[in-house]
Amino acid sequence: MTTNIDRYAVFGNPIGHSKSPQIHTMFAEQTKQSLIYTAELAELGQFDQAVKDFIDNGGKGLNVTVPFKEDAWSCATLHSERALRAGAVNTLKLQADGSLFGDTTDGTGLVRDLMQNHGLQIQNRDILLIGAGGAVRGVLEALLEQQPASLQIANRTKYKAVQLAGDFSDLGQITGCGLDEIDETHFDIVINGTSASLQGDVPPVPESIFKSGACSYDMMYAAQATPFMRWSSAHGARQVFDGLGMLVEQAAESFYIWRGVKPETAPVIKQLRLDFDQQENAG
Ligand code: ATR
Repeated sequence: MTTNIDRYAVFGNPIGHSKSPQIHTMFAEQTKQSLIYTAELAELGQFDQAVKDFIDNGGKGLNVTVPFKEDAWSCATLHSERALRAGAVNTLKLQADGSLFGDTTDGTGLVRDLMQNHGLQIQNRDILLIGAGGAVRGVLEALLEQQPASLQIANRTKYKAVQLAGDFSDLGQITGCGLDEIDETHFDIVINGTSASLQGDVPPVPESIFKSGACSYDMMYAAQATPFMRWSSAHGARQVFDGLGMLVEQAAESFYIWRGVKPETAPVIKQLRLDFDQQENAG
């Protein structure tokens, strides 16, 4: 089926619970852009074909989520600087000549949420990033651009943290270590970039990592505070945040790449929070 209306989609596996269609539909209404945005389940090993079929049917751009961010990188013929460094792509845009441009907006999303939505300063602050997978790799450049005093990456599997720190060491003061080697009472902002919350776990880090007045941020989000947010509150973090704002901010950056228009994120974040509250009250 070919339609005249521009089509966008998020591709992932699983994809059922994605909030991206709701977010981008709100952006489109707000900015009066005519487009359709859907969630598409791609089969493992079939990503390239799924993208081709989508483009053949009027697709102008895609968001890409787990587990296809590396496949999306390979699909793109042109990459932004930040995508080249991250080795992953979460945004594909069809170009006039039919080729695909790949970018990654996660780092911008995190930094905007921290700084603009939560009013946090990154410059000259000591930052701890827990985890060393794709989620962490994708945000390192954007964090280092803000010139923190130090950035420590700590991971359950130490060598991955050390390797990642080495990959980005030309961009700032960055080190890697194991979870049991984290500097204590040292951090202004602690960010959880592990997938431990998905299993209801908290990464086993020392209890005294927070400086007085420190903030804690979980890249995951849920209707209720995540296990890491609850742990942080109990161990000295003054403020705790989840990753809902990051989700909306990275979406806004993708929308801008595709449409050249910057949507307002605050009303969209507010609406998603309201939806969460209603789900809670209904449940
Ligand atoms: P993503 O793309 O979401 O980052 P990933 O590349 O699989 O996913 O990385 C998951 C990250 O969460 C890794 O840093 C992983 O630690 P390991 O490298 O040691 O596997 C971390 N992680 C997952 N579950 C964890 C847990 N229960 N405790 C601590 N770290 C955990």
